[in-house]
Amino acid sequence: MGDGPLLIERRSDRVVATLHRPDKRNAVDQSMIDALHALCGELESDPRILILTGSGGTFAAGADIAQLRDRRAEDALRGINATAFIRVNELPMPVIAAIDGYALGGGAELAYAADIRIGSSSLKIGNPETGLGIIAAAGATWRLREIVGDARASELLLTGRVLDADEALVAGLISSVHAPELLLSAAHAIADRIAANDPVATQYTKRALRAPRDRHPAIDGELQAELFESPEKERRMTAFLEKRTTR
Ligand code: COA
Repeated sequence: MGDGPLLIERRSDRVVATLHRPDKRNAVDQSMIDALHALCGELESDPRILILTGSGGTFAAGADIAQLRDRRAEDALRGINATAFIRVNELPMPVIAAIDGYALGGGAELAYAADIRIGSSSLKIGNPETGLGIIAAAGATWRLREIVGDARASELLLTGRVLDADEALVAGLISSVHAPELLLSAAHAIADRIAANDPVATQYTKRALRAPRDRHPAIDGELQAELFESPEKERRMTAFLEKRTTR
């Protein structure tokens, strides 16, 4: 697993990446961003499900404020965290964020970049950036709106209010709540379901989900056209019709 800012457990069908800067509440600093880019490179060439989580009962208490304070205009324009989170979001296979405890600022934005989010009962998620004199520039202003809708995203980003697990569930920001000690196994159960399906169909579904509105329905037809010719589709449908398991 190593001992950097990102602990990585590799399995054949999934990778578990644990944000790990325990003395800084897993605040996202440059070293963590570098580690995320390296992991994305690996998962782009060898697609697997990614489970993102945090160590010590915290997801991530934000971007590293000590580094943020020193950043200047040119750093903002480079979009250091935004670029990494877009790369996470664009991974070929699904990304599941298992969010325990604090997910604030840049930590919340990393969670927003996941395809699926689940939380623990101790979740505290939100974007207090305006209180620090900055905006939430690593995805919240567009991704949070896509996830929870314009009205709620505006309320949350303009007030900096932090949601607990029940509020996040009602808002649709997370899809389920678990006891902290069961959170990771719940993420694995989701990964198990995904892993039982055809990985190419899963990747194509993610691609279609991410496509802009004006690419539909053309993109759906194009992706489906490829799958309709695939041996795996033939095998899975034949197995169903012959009442055999698809495994
Ligand atoms: N950036 C840098 N360091 C951070 C940090 C962040 N986002 N969040 C926490 N830390 C550091 C603290 O400075 C402290 O370091 P120290 O021990 O060297 O003093 C350490 O992590 C522990 O944090 P502490 O505040 O003592 O823990 P807590 O349990 O009392 O409070 C929080 C937890 C999350 C409520 C609190 O740390 C906090 O408000 N963090 C900042 C949240 C924020 O504004 N995030 C948005 C950034 S864009």
